[in-house]
Amino acid sequence: MTKRLPTSVLDELSARYAVEIWKDPSGPSAEEIALHAASCTAIISQPTDRVDAALLDRTPELRVVANVAVGYDNVDVPAARERRVIVTNTPDVLTDSCATYTWGLILAATRRIAEGDRLVRRGAWHGWAIDFMLGCELVGRQLGIIGMGRIGQAVAAKAGAFGMQVAYVPSRRGDREPLRAPDGTPYRPLSLDELLVTSDIVSLHVPLGPETHHLIDAKTLARMKRSAFLVNMARGPVVDEAALAWALREGLISGAALDVYENEPSVHPDLFDLEQVVLAPHLGSATRETRTAMADLAVRNVLAVLDGRSPLTPVPGSYPPQPR
Ligand code: GLV
Repeated sequence: MTKRLPTSVLDELSARYAVEIWKDPSGPSAEEIALHAASCTAIISQPTDRVDAALLDRTPELRVVANVAVGYDNVDVPAARERRVIVTNTPDVLTDSCATYTWGLILAATRRIAEGDRLVRRGAWHGWAIDFMLGCELVGRQLGIIGMGRIGQAVAAKAGAFGMQVAYVPSRRGDREPLRAPDGTPYRPLSLDELLVTSDIVSLHVPLGPETHHLIDAKTLARMKRSAFLVNMARGPVVDEAALAWALREGLISGAALDVYENEPSVHPDLFDLEQVVLAPHLGSATRETRTAMADLAVRNVLAVLDGRSPLTPVPGSYPPQPR
């Protein structure tokens, strides 16, 4: 276990297996993981740990990597599959938490909440004024969701509460019927370009992979409305951070809110000077309840695999293992 976990099922795991927990909260280096996991049958990893072919070559006993996150771009799934190592993640338990946080970011950006907080703290507030720090309304506007998976759909489901219409980019498989809101209202399926051109808020919820790396770059940012806001709750490299800083500085878009960054915990320095971007420290799923549920699910996945049962939440392509 590469970091301590807030799990209630640890006792069950340690009663039956030898569990080594890395105590330093900054986590082990790649070399330290490889040394300590050399004879392990399971690794419980976090998004900050890289589980790649080089590591997997040094862990011949390994049967499962349980990643405590819904995203698993830190794990080389094809390399694990080749070595018959099952990879699991923690979907569902964090969906609502991430969707709620997305709305927090949308509100923070459009109503300038973080910016206002900074202003008050530095003693720069001189009282109520009719034209002071004006934001923009959400009602009647379009929320464009890129990545209409579990979290994207949960974000969309809350849009009605703010009077927003939802547009989304259908998955490649081609959804015949448009996805619908809980009250039956159909969402608008659009091409990526149509969505960028027409949306007032563009919210990213795609997994990171070769197809989504820098999906938002100078070219796509230039397609957005000048009044629009970008929200990134997916993974940092989905957005070209330097291009985003440029687009904000030049007024190509009105604002942004980021929970994730290209080189965490580093943030592109140009973003610090831009008041119109909200910078959050990767907190999408960060509630006590959700983080405990994620940790519990990861441990239960390990118990299932080591007990010879099916994992609860294997990532696509990881289970069942390939025949030898
Ligand atoms: C965190 O970013 C996650 O993927 O769960």
